[in-house]
Order: sequence, then C-alpha cells, then structure tokens
Amino acid sequence: MKTLFIGRHLISLESVDSTNGYARDFLSRNDLFEGTVIIAAEQTNGKGQRGNVWYSSPRENLTLSIILKPHFLDLNCQFDLSKAIALSVADFFTYYTNYEIKVKWPNDILIESKKAAGILIENIYQGDKISHSIAGIGINVNQLNFPAKLIHAGSLKLATGFHFNINECLEKLCENIERRYLQLKSNNKKIDEDYLSKLFRLNEWGNFSTARGDLLGKIKGVKKNGRLTIQFQNGEILDFDNKEIEFIY
Ligand code: BTN
Repeated sequence: MKTLFIGRHLISLESVDSTNGYARDFLSRNDLFEGTVIIAAEQTNGKGQRGNVWYSSPRENLTLSIILKPHFLDLNCQFDLSKAIALSVADFFTYYTNYEIKVKWPNDILIESKKAAGILIENIYQGDKISHSIAGIGINVNQLNFPAKLIHAGSLKLATGFHFNINECLEKLCENIERRYLQLKSNNKKIDEDYLSKLFRLNEWGNFSTARGDLLGKIKGVKKNGRLTIQFQNGEILDFDNKEIEFIY
C-alpha cells in the first residue's frame, strides 16, 4: 500500500452481513486506527441509502468500510466528508476509464449515467462531535449482470470491457481516498469546486419525483448542509434532503 494511513490496517472478511455493521459493532467495543479498511468478499445484507439493500455479487466487486476520525469537521460541515469520498471514487473511475464521471447527488457515482458505485457514511457521535465516521463504499468492478429492478446499474467492466484485479483496485481506491481526505483537511474549497463540477444534471432541466408529484426542475447547487437546491419550471426554488426527492431518468 502506497498510502500513509488509509488501508494500512486491513480487516479482510470472507463473508459478513455488512462491513458498515461490522465496523459499528467493532467500534462499540474497541477503537480502530484511523484509515482502517474493513473489506468483505461477500456481504449477505449490504446496506444502501434510504434503507435499501446493496446488491453485490461475491468476489466481483469492492465492498468495504473505512474508519475515519474527521474531528476537524464542524457538525454543520458533515456533508463535506461525503463530497470528499464521492470525489475519491470519481477519481478512481477516472483513473481506469476515459468516460466523464458524474456524481449524482448526494453521492452516487455514475459512469455514462449508470450507477457504478454507492456510498453510505454512518457517523458515531460523542457529545456533539463526530468521534468516528464509517465510510461504506460499494464499487461495481467486474459485475456484468444485475437484478432486473436495478435498471441504472453499471460497473467498471461494463463500461470498459476489461476485467480488473480487485486488490489493485483496492490500493488505487485507498490512494484516492487519502488524497481527497487530506485535501478536505487542508482546503475545503477544492472539494466544493470539484464536487460541483462533477454534479450530474447541474443547471440542466430534468424530472424529479417530489411530494408534490413529478416536476421538471434544474439543480442550482448544494447547500453547505448537503441539501439539494432545485429551481422548478414556475421559478420556485426549493431545497431537499435525500428522502424528499428522487431523480427520474
Ligand atoms: C447506496 O448507494 O445506497 C449506498 C451503498 C453503500 C454500499 C456499501 S458496500 C460496503 C458498505 N457496507 C454496507 O453495508 N454498505 C456499504
């Protein structure tokens, strides 16, 4: 591993329900070094956002959680970590493909409009501070077939036609995470700029499913607290959190 701390401690599991769950459970009893990676060849109950299941064929992909201690982050800047991790995964795909990689808010990573990676960050608090962040990352690497309902699923192999070595991918991912995490620590500006430059559907008209029904709108940006700002056809501008809006595409 060519990193300073990300991935220098590795817990490699054959099969686990969820690496995020394993990390949380472990941390309730013991501490772990910052940068520890918990990786599983198979997850039997992978967790996605909004209570969804994360499907990943055993041994074909990367399913892992990274322990971080972003004590430098104010509570109201938590979304910056989500941005940094999303950018690390986007950088990872950029390294392996020629496609323009997009980040679908809040942190799905798209290759050619197909979701090839998902991120689930779970924080552990001590008082009003984050003591640990569990950054769960699922990257579809070599998987070619997906459950029928995942109509927008993609993978590195689907995009490039090449087969990838999972261990090499892990190393590359750790390098990218370390770079972005250190960038976050020293200069949040670049993270904000790069995140916005990769944001899927920024300033483009598209359909969204909202509590008021399906509406045509344009993403105008993302607030510091992570809420998505959308301008609708009638001129109205509203902010949403992850549970309040869905992209129709
Ligand atoms: C999403 O897009 O819904 C988030 C998916 C996150 C999946 C990863 S796989 C490794 C880690 N462990 C989990 O149970 N989930 C995350």
